[in-house]
Amino acid sequence: MTSNTTAEAPSRVLQVDSARKYFPVRRARLRDPRRHVHAVDSVTLTLGTGQTLGIVGESGCGKSTLGRVIIGLERPDAGTVRVGVDAAAAGSPRALGVVQAVFQDPAGALDPRMTVRQSIAEALPDADRATRDRRVAEALEEVGLTQEHSDRYPHELSGGQQQRVCIARAVVGRPELILLDEAVTSLDASLQAQVLDLLSGLQERTGVAYVFISHDLRAVRRFSDQVAVMYLGQLVEVAPAADFDTGLLHPYSVALRSTEPRLPGDSGPQLPRVVLDGEPPSAIDPPPGCRFAARCPVAEARCRETLPELVEERPGHLVRCVKPGALTPAPDSGEAA
Ligand SMILES: Nc1ncnc2c1ncn2[C@@H]1O[C@H](COP(=O)(O)OP(=O)(O)OP(=O)(O)O)[C@@H](O)[C@H]1O
Ligand SMILES: [Mg+2]
Repeated sequence: MTSNTTAEAPSRVLQVDSARKYFPVRRARLRDPRRHVHAVDSVTLTLGTGQTLGIVGESGCGKSTLGRVIIGLERPDAGTVRVGVDAAAAGSPRALGVVQAVFQDPAGALDPRMTVRQSIAEALPDADRATRDRRVAEALEEVGLTQEHSDRYPHELSGGQQQRVCIARAVVGRPELILLDEAVTSLDASLQAQVLDLLSGLQERTGVAYVFISHDLRAVRRFSDQVAVMYLGQLVEVAPAADFDTGLLHPYSVALRSTEPRLPGDSGPQLPRVVLDGEPPSAIDPPPGCRFAARCPVAEARCRETLPELVEERPGHLVRCVKPGALTPAPDSGEAA
């Protein structure tokens, strides 16, 4: 069922069980009923050591809130989040249970009064001076910066260099898991590719796992081992990234994937565009049934009545839909099956 998203993974670094985060909506009048934004609803997922989980979905569907719940910046209202689940058993060289995050805006994330060296060293509060200096130098080298950058202030660096400092600060404490929430979105295409290569290299060398949130579907499926698709606070599909071309099963995932433009050099067919009617419904006290039903081209009456479970349709591939695959294009025709 919902818990086994990485069947082949040797050990888990993250286990999320039925996590929920609602935000109260401000009431216009005191006697109005209390309503809530269902930002994250019953999310269950697993991430293997050294693996990357991508999270995609429309703006406001709850990606960042889920990320913040995962790294402990938000407390879930219900459910549990465990980091470092199996690391002790696997004899991990990484700091058990330590998580870090890199967000979209590096300038905002760095203290303008601190040098690069100070910003990175701040992530090692317990290390003695010699260890701290050595680890900071190593982290700078790992992200492709030199000692020459270490005495600069953030305003003396380019945006790409600032983001590298944020990454160095995230990796210096050897975390098990790093949340990357739109971490490369503000960088230009070539710099994005460089930073993603850098992050992949770090993962190979250190075994760190990533939760990678991005609007860029192409970047997500290239960079991730598995991809979770969110819709109005819920996971509707968790699939191996390899299934992203023609193997997605949930109608919403297929529609989302069909918005990705095909570029020269892409393999696979041109996927037919699935245009969705209407705006996403509000995440405030959503009605029962499948949350996508109102916009789903293949929805039936039962879809509006009962919320489907997230079930393992194929090994390692979970979907929350009673008609999985109804909009999935046939592998070589580019047409809906
Ligand atoms: N602190 C908060 N208080 C109230 N509502 C919030 C809060 N944080 C997020 N929300 C609401 O929760 C929902 C999910 O927000 P979230 O930021 O997680 O979306 P997202 O998928 O990351 O969107 P985007 O792609 O635009 O970054 C939205 O409806 C948002 O307005
Ligand atoms: Mg967000």
